[in-house]
Amino acid sequence: TWTMLNIAEEQIERVREQIGDTGLAICGLSGGVDSAVAAAIVQRAIGERLHCVFVDHGLLREGEAEQVERDFVAATGVNLHVYDARETFLAALSGVTDPEEKRKIIGREFIRAFEAAEVAVLGEAADQGEKVGFLVQGTLYPDVVESGGGAGTSNIKSHHNVGGLPEDLEFALVEPLRTLFKDEVRLVGEQLGLPGDIVWRQPFPGPGLGIRIIGEVTADRLDILRRADAIARQELTRAGLDRDIWQMPVVLLADVRSVGVQGDGRTYGHPVVIRPVTSEDAMTADWARLPYDVMERISTRITNEVAEVNRVTLDITSKPPGTIEWE
Ligand code: XMP
Repeated sequence: TWTMLNIAEEQIERVREQIGDTGLAICGLSGGVDSAVAAAIVQRAIGERLHCVFVDHGLLREGEAEQVERDFVAATGVNLHVYDARETFLAALSGVTDPEEKRKIIGREFIRAFEAAEVAVLGEAADQGEKVGFLVQGTLYPDVVESGGGAGTSNIKSHHNVGGLPEDLEFALVEPLRTLFKDEVRLVGEQLGLPGDIVWRQPFPGPGLGIRIIGEVTADRLDILRRADAIARQELTRAGLDRDIWQMPVVLLADVRSVGVQGDGRTYGHPVVIRPVTSEDAMTADWARLPYDVMERISTRITNEVAEVNRVTLDITSKPPGTIEWE
């Protein structure tokens, strides 16, 4: 719409004014809508002077790394630096089963990987006589209000939503979404021609699939969960329910096995849990009454197509008392 075009243009102009004619900006992409839209706005404002960094921690869902590396780049033309940290994350998570421990490790490794990527970008920039002076973040209006910041001014304190950036960053923050709500961000994203899968992505936690495997996170388990999750998402989309369902985690109970029967053979596989919820803001949530035929397709397809999974269960707990994620 006209209004959204105005919002996008206005933010692009503001970024252009803030950054000026020299200096580079760096932006971490997560695969989510906020960082993508923030980057797209800054790209429009300063073009090649924006360097985006994508840390591939291997905990994203099927197709999500490609959405960033291929589709987002094709749609925006951003300068993208991919940092492959998949092995590092797996090694760091080896043997870890405690949820809080997992979160700490993922957060710490993410900062390390982002810093390493940043150093590489800074090095390249220095070689060309340029200095990176700006850090782009996808902070939304509700985050600004929540952290008590006034409107307008940027500062050098980092916000939590990139997973806790280092304290000693000497960047000025560029936050082109500071005045916007989530639905406005999505509309701006559409206006800027970003891929629909990114613009309309449901909430997904920073620690990714790492907190949807109950038990140790391994490459094999990630692979199983990724395939089951992709089927569940496909069927939700096919049923036209993406916007009615707030999110639908698929959880792999990796240390649990149960007996089943497939053809004329006995199976001894893992259960997955599907957790569809409706919510306004994730603070509270209700378990979603998915249509039976949708549940049936999800169950049939997962047990047919993912050999390691022989049981699909449904989480019918609201929040509270259950949280949306299992860890
Ligand atoms: P819970 O499980 O606490 O989740 O009901 C509430 C919402 O927050 C998401 N979530 C996270 N998002 N980093 C994030 O960016 C995290 O560590 C994290 N943990 C949970 C969750 O998906 C839900 O939307």
